Amino acid sequence: MEQNYTERDIREVLITEEEIQAKVKEVAAQISKDYAGKDLVAICILRGCCIFFSDLMRNVTIPVDMEFMATSSYGNGAQSTGNVSILYDLQTDIKGKSVLIVEDIIDTGITLRQLRKLLSGREPESIEICVLLDKVDRRVTPVDVKYTLFKIPNEFVVGYGLDYAEKYRNYRQIGVLKPEIYE
Ligand code: PRP
Repeated sequence: MEQNYTERDIREVLITEEEIQAKVKEVAAQISKDYAGKDLVAICILRGCCIFFSDLMRNVTIPVDMEFMATSSYGNGAQSTGNVSILYDLQTDIKGKSVLIVEDIIDTGITLRQLRKLLSGREPESIEICVLLDKVDRRVTPVDVKYTLFKIPNEFVVGYGLDYAEKYRNYRQIGVLKPEIYE
């Protein structure tokens, strides 16, 4: 079968669609249990998290307010700039709510550390973090993450929402990009 443009640019599949979906269901069940009876607000950090967030939320079985926020730290490059700016803010008051920040990836930790600090200032009852991928070896600042779906090595990964220069977000698995694509 002929390869599509994504498959041609992928060096190896790191996490298959089946593995992703199984883990998403498991974590969604845990979230549903942990937040039963709470006023839960789940925040999708755009744009990388959009696909993960949609799948996760569809598997959560308790009432949840789905909110969106956009931050920027990487631009079109592969390295974090260390500066996080808010491009689109929440449209709801989270005071007294149980907040769950949902992110596609934690790398240096700078984005999530700053975001958590910022949202804590709005006085939620609690604030926790759920990440699809954790590049543990890359951390420069400690961040307490409650739910981690997969720990991954320091490779340039794309797919399932993650991009390189805005491409590959629609690839259904998580793959490592061939170095010649981004070097
Ligand atoms: C990614 C990711 C986090 C951040 C993590 O966003 O979604 O926000 O980088 O990196 P850090 O732990 O080093 O701070 P990106 O800027 O690539 O935007 P996108 O989600 O729109 O693709």
